[in-house]
Amino acid sequence: MLILGIDTSCDETSAAVSRNQMILSNVIYSQIEEHRPWGGVKPDVAKNAHLTHIDEVVTKALRRAKIKPDDLDAVAVTLGPGLAIALEVGIAYAKKLAKNYNLKIIPVNHLEGHLLSFLAKNAKGRCLVDVIQLVFPAAGLLVSGGHTEIIEIKKIGQYQIIGETLDDAAGEAFDKIAKMLGLGYPGGPVISFFAGRGQPIYQLPIPMLKRNDYNFSFSGLKTAVKNFLSNYQQEKNQQFMVDFCASVEHTIVQSIAIKLDLYLKNHSLNFLTAGGGVVNNLLLRKTLRFLARKYKIPIYLPQDKKLLSDNAAMIALAASLHQEDNCFLKSADRVPAWRLDEKIL
Ligand code: KG4
Ligand code: ZN
Repeated sequence: MLILGIDTSCDETSAAVSRNQMILSNVIYSQIEEHRPWGGVKPDVAKNAHLTHIDEVVTKALRRAKIKPDDLDAVAVTLGPGLAIALEVGIAYAKKLAKNYNLKIIPVNHLEGHLLSFLAKNAKGRCLVDVIQLVFPAAGLLVSGGHTEIIEIKKIGQYQIIGETLDDAAGEAFDKIAKMLGLGYPGGPVISFFAGRGQPIYQLPIPMLKRNDYNFSFSGLKTAVKNFLSNYQQEKNQQFMVDFCASVEHTIVQSIAIKLDLYLKNHSLNFLTAGGGVVNNLLLRKTLRFLARKYKIPIYLPQDKKLLSDNAAMIALAASLHQEDNCFLKSADRVPAWRLDEKIL
């Protein structure tokens, strides 16, 4: 099945083509430069940038895949979660394409895209594991700029949210703390770059430790960092910055690891996977591998870094994985707060 995926959920305009689990193209136009002056994503700026770039992004994705719109079987589009006015751009474009070329529209949850990214085949056509070999239930971790969730994957298409953040997401914590440190936007990559050169010598609070559930909270850490920085009397030199970034990274990764560890200890799960931009973080990846070894389960992380941050290949891929749900959605509408455990059809 040849699918064109479209994602305009946040600040990346993306289109991709997949044939079954093979990614033929994955074009991402990043709007970071447009949002940088605002220190975060500005919805109207995102909408206008999507409107400006979607046509060229889709055209490029089809060209790179050497596909004509007539060859497509379906167009898969993110209905949510995401910014309402940004989602609308991708949905309207998908509808137009579907009408012109008589294509099915497959609605996709952006988070499911992140969660199933490990199932993409690489350029040589190889996958980490064959879908039919997967044994469920499995543990999924979603960590991005907007979400931090532990998901129980009952099977493809059936998910239970085990734990989630009560306030800020992990990526958001990286971004907000980087802003306080004057490191710009987005903060995760800069903090992790500095952290790799320092030691986590500063003690910061790990929230939610005493609670016996699987939820997260990062807003307390943000406040603790703010207080620490305003009380710190010495020069904030290079050594301080690298050590402080290492401390922030250590604290955020530990917060995630402690809850995931508890979940893996209390449940019998068959593999671990993780998706979302924060999975770019090397310390987090190392920690996830450690947990998988501890509980003697395989870990599957997306093979291509491009599949971690927002992209449309994961949308086309998720669509190809549950074809039984394919439908002609003439009235497809955005669902900005679509939860992974919520059926919308
Ligand atoms: O999945 P994503 O691209 O977009 C959302 O759906 O939100 O995730 C973006 C987030 C940002 O908050 C960014 O700071 C974070 O992922 N991020 C990282 C790293 N690379 C990106 N966080 C920590 N370490 C990284 N290396
Ligand atoms: Zn995302």
